[in-house]
Amino acid sequence: MNQKENPKDITVEISGKKYQVPEGLTMLQAMWHSGLELTRGVGCLGGICGACPAKYRTKEDTKIKTALACQTQVEDGMAFSLIASYYPNRKVTYQFPEMKDPKQDLFRHYPEAALCRNCDACTVACPKGIDVRTGVWKAVFGDFKEGAELFLSCVMCSLCVPVCIADIAPNQVGLFMRRAQGIFFEKKSPQLANRVDEIADGKYNAEWENLLSLPDDAIQVEPIS
Ligand code: FES
Repeated sequence: MNQKENPKDITVEISGKKYQVPEGLTMLQAMWHSGLELTRGVGCLGGICGACPAKYRTKEDTKIKTALACQTQVEDGMAFSLIASYYPNRKVTYQFPEMKDPKQDLFRHYPEAALCRNCDACTVACPKGIDVRTGVWKAVFGDFKEGAELFLSCVMCSLCVPVCIADIAPNQVGLFMRRAQGIFFEKKSPQLANRVDEIADGKYNAEWENLLSLPDDAIQVEPIS
């Protein structure tokens, strides 16, 4: 029997308690395997919803690192725990249709963005490998195009938030920039506008009704392998 069919057990510490789990599991799978209840901190399991931020430390490295628990394999001697994916951000509400100059409005809504001290802790914390610090500066200097691209793979896990010594929520700044870039500065797609008009005019109503009336087994889709 090869190793894949008979994985060896390793020891991990989850929130301060030791468990034996088969090697090759992700952090979330290790928690399930250990019988731990996961009522929050689980979403897509594919690294795109940002619901599963975790902190961990390996046997060899004393440094505490950050990760998405659904994307990170456990290893022998690893200690980890899920952490909050929400931090008490200052609640910012904005309406883009009312904005004249989103590059200035950024400072109205996120004045702390300009206080970045270049420590780079946000970049180190980002499990998606985003150059977060540069992204924040792009926002501050009004380069929304490059900034929005830098933040494109942000999953809003918020791991950049608690490490910021200037109390910036970099992910929120990035989201503002992405939204503003799309609304104000990107070339509009006429095809998309046409399709939205067609939908509003009811062109697809009959097909939609037909789809809704189908039994479940008629709309099964092949799982993505
Ligand atoms: S569960 Fe969605 S990113 Fe981990």
